[in-house]
Amino acid sequence: MKKAILLAGGAGTRLFPLTKIICKQLLPIYDKPMICYPLATLMLGGLRDILIISTPKDLPMLRDYLADGAQLGISIQYAEQAKPEGIAQAFLIGAKFIGNSGASLILGDNIFYGKLDFYREALALERGACIFAYQVRDPQRYGVVEFGADGKAISVEEKPKQPKSHFAVPGLYVYDEQAVDLTRSLKPSTRKELEITDLNLRYLERGQLHVKLLSRGMAWLDTGTTTTLLEASNYIATIEHRQGLKIACLEEVALRMGFISQADLAKIIDRLPQNEYRDYLRMVCDEGPSSGPEPVG
Ligand code: DAU
Repeated sequence: MKKAILLAGGAGTRLFPLTKIICKQLLPIYDKPMICYPLATLMLGGLRDILIISTPKDLPMLRDYLADGAQLGISIQYAEQAKPEGIAQAFLIGAKFIGNSGASLILGDNIFYGKLDFYREALALERGACIFAYQVRDPQRYGVVEFGADGKAISVEEKPKQPKSHFAVPGLYVYDEQAVDLTRSLKPSTRKELEITDLNLRYLERGQLHVKLLSRGMAWLDTGTTTTLLEASNYIATIEHRQGLKIACLEEVALRMGFISQADLAKIIDRLPQNEYRDYLRMVCDEGPSSGPEPVG
């Protein structure tokens, strides 16, 4: 079973003053903190051994919120990233945690909504790395992947001024056990970061990079600016109101994945304040783990 790293650091400068006191990953996306969404994605992938990496300032708040994960039937450990020296640094910080396993990395500000089969298939790969490609209007803001005529990836570039395609690389990655060693061989980029794109290039050079194209029915939401933050909240609110089902409700995901029992959930509910979230969990608990559609996102 692969391990999981959720990277939730960074300076949060783009969202100042929203991020003066609270880190970006704890800002609300409609009815729950942002970090619930990437955490739910990992859990729905079946991953239960998770390392959350964040800044020395923000780590205590994240730990207060999620504790050791036992209430969700998962294990959460925490590690500091002293300075935002790059996304790939997560593999150096998490080297001991990862050991000889493969690992999946998700960025704490990436929200996926849709059927996650693509992720489960990637996690099942034994050799190499798997990243994803998602069509966007503004690829220059992201890692960009270019496909050859045979549909195979031929290049990956970080924030190119002249993107070779409209396919951005979302902040969700799956690696085999070579990731830590390959990260050790990386040099910091001109912006003094260990780039995740450079790690992906190492796999590409070895012919071991799989790139799966995400369907346009999948939503990968941006939370990088105040406007896209609001749009993401509105998107989640729209779907939740329409269906009467919550997206990335961690306790529900834990129940449906079989990480906790109905009795465990009932105990959690007893400790919650009387509100709409509690009423929702009551309904989920009464209906049981396999009722209704499978949760996505
Ligand atoms: O969102 C997907 C994109 O994420 C990819 O397409 C790019 O290839 C990848 O480089 C990254 O681009 P961003 O410009 O979004 O990276 P940013 O520096 O904003 O960091 C993304 C998140 O990771 C952010 O919430 C902060 C966190 N982070 C970032 C760095 C560099 C850390 O926790 N530590 C870090 O050192």
